[in-house]
Amino acid sequence: MAESMNGLKRTHRCTEVSEANLGQTVTVMGWVAKSRNKGGIIFTDLRDRSGILQIIFEQGEGDEFVDAANFEKACALRSEFVIAVVGKVVKRGGAANENLKTGTIEVRANSVRILSEALTPPFPVEADCKTKEEIRLKYRYLDLRRPDLQKNIIMRSEVVQRIRNFLSEEGFLEIETPILMKSTPEGARDYLVPSRVHPGNFYALPQSPQLFKQLLMCSGYDRYFQVAKCFRDEDLRADRQPEFTQVDMELSFVDVEDVLDVNERLIAKVFKDSIGIDVPLPLERMKWIDAMNRFGSDKPDTRFGMELIDVSDVVKGCGFGVFTGALDNGGSVRGLNAKGQAEMPRKKIDALVDFAKDYGAKGLAYLAVNTDGSYKSSFAKFMTEEQLKALVDAMGGEPGDLLLFAADKNTVVWAVLGALRLKLGEEMGLIDHDKYNFLWVTEFPLLEWSEEENRFVAVHHPFTMPMDEDIPLLDTDPGAVRAKAYDIVLNGTELGGGSVRIHQGDIQEKMFEMLGFTKEQAQERFGFLLDAFKYGVPPHAGLAYGLDRMIMLMVKADSIRDVMAFPKVKDASDLMSEAPNVVDEKQLEELCIKVVLPEKTEAEKTEE
Ligand code: AMO
Ligand code: AMP
Repeated sequence: MAESMNGLKRTHRCTEVSEANLGQTVTVMGWVAKSRNKGGIIFTDLRDRSGILQIIFEQGEGDEFVDAANFEKACALRSEFVIAVVGKVVKRGGAANENLKTGTIEVRANSVRILSEALTPPFPVEADCKTKEEIRLKYRYLDLRRPDLQKNIIMRSEVVQRIRNFLSEEGFLEIETPILMKSTPEGARDYLVPSRVHPGNFYALPQSPQLFKQLLMCSGYDRYFQVAKCFRDEDLRADRQPEFTQVDMELSFVDVEDVLDVNERLIAKVFKDSIGIDVPLPLERMKWIDAMNRFGSDKPDTRFGMELIDVSDVVKGCGFGVFTGALDNGGSVRGLNAKGQAEMPRKKIDALVDFAKDYGAKGLAYLAVNTDGSYKSSFAKFMTEEQLKALVDAMGGEPGDLLLFAADKNTVVWAVLGALRLKLGEEMGLIDHDKYNFLWVTEFPLLEWSEEENRFVAVHHPFTMPMDEDIPLLDTDPGAVRAKAYDIVLNGTELGGGSVRIHQGDIQEKMFEMLGFTKEQAQERFGFLLDAFKYGVPPHAGLAYGLDRMIMLMVKADSIRDVMAFPKVKDASDLMSEAPNVVDEKQLEELCIKVVLPEKTEAEKTEE
């Protein structure tokens, strides 16, 4: 029978007990990590969120011993039982355990209460658990007891606290914005919530508090922040969840510099106080176009070199049709120098070609500079000796190097070589995993052409301000307009992003026009914001961090799921609570909703 607290009070968490408490009686509570009976003495590891403390149960007289009834209870202890122990802190009888914070002491129990018993857990509750993630997620409440996850979740709490403190001291107000709002799709698909009171009408869950934080600036709150839940119905990846948390902020009467300044100081403080990293300020800044040209990515991992090299000028007029064809179509030819990889076996090179194709390449041309200076290449036969030498020189190629080339339109070349660079960087051991390389990527394009929609779409969002000197280009060359937008990048991950907002009605109108909205459509979707701007709007700008990603990088977790208490899996379901799920017919009726499922395909039918 489970016992109750019945007046008993915990005096310490497990690892709060130390040599300073020697001789004192303490009351500790937690879970049995393990318990073994060694010839009449029971050694129990007691675990709580702070760590582990060894308890000794020995039958006898006095406050360092338990009586027969308590000893019997101790004999019954199994893993994950929840117990309370009253006992005396003593020096450890056996050798000290250097792996434990409490390794030099133990508590000799005087009494024990079994607060609850436990079934045998489906996997061991311990660090570095090898059990499949699906099983751990199904029993997430047990998984969350494991020390490595507890460390992450505790770190997350501490980081949020530090961010709150910093921003409060900088004059930011923490203000909540609605979760039930109007659907104003921003890029990803919205999660919709049906309204019972307004049948046929839907709320949307916010993809971010963007519109509301801009309204708060209109209302004079000046500096706002929020630890905000955001919802995006998009394909999941290791660093993406359908429901995630932003540290979101907005500031009035500022320009780019002001936002970057306060955020650099925030980052430096939080990373120093949380993981002891010194972040040198100011952070490096890189224009978007330079990031693309040098790293093939708008979130460059600058922990290693192996930058892209544009050889378009060098191969111009050469005999290799793949290269010249790409140039003729307005594209480019660029390469990577994989130093010392000339001996890479053909099979591995073929795998790189396939990898490149996954990123949209039609192929990947290679040239290995053998140690004797001769070449092994997929295209050498199309080029003269001089042309080849000029190409190798342009690539800084030395004997032993493997040169890899992509020829296509710039977007494809960047994507392919950017991905290839990361893959090779990892495989060649070029990445120092102890480094924390932050940088700002600035001057993003304002608009990008969507082949799918046959119109321009906003790269950041429709409220982002063009750079002052590029405003005239809105009429002549919209694709070339740069934005007052910035991302903060850490080790190749986009940690956060933001922009200066448009606060001038005419520019905003122009922007909607560029995006293909009619005046009516813009009014219908964003009317409340546009109206608010008519009543006095300060210039404003902001930024939002992905909190989950920030923690993930701080604790060096492989997946965003390891820093969220209750994450969802790839198909956006929660394996523990089994959400999403069907609802009662009655609930649907109240909402005037009828579900029409798509016809099953033949394959799906045979699967059943
Ligand atoms: P953005 O869309 O760039 O900007 O989002 C800001 C940051 O949120 C994180 N993030 C995600 N994290 C986990 N799972 C996801 N599905 C996910 N999507 C985004 C990223 C990203 O950098 N309102 C603007 C900000 C602004 O302009 O102030 C916005 O939401 O780390
Ligand atoms: P092919 O003439 O198609 O046999 O291609 C000759 C070499 O060029 C092969 O190594 C291909 O992988 C490579 N290749 C083909 N298309 C491209 C491309 N767009 N960019 C770079 N290399 C390519």
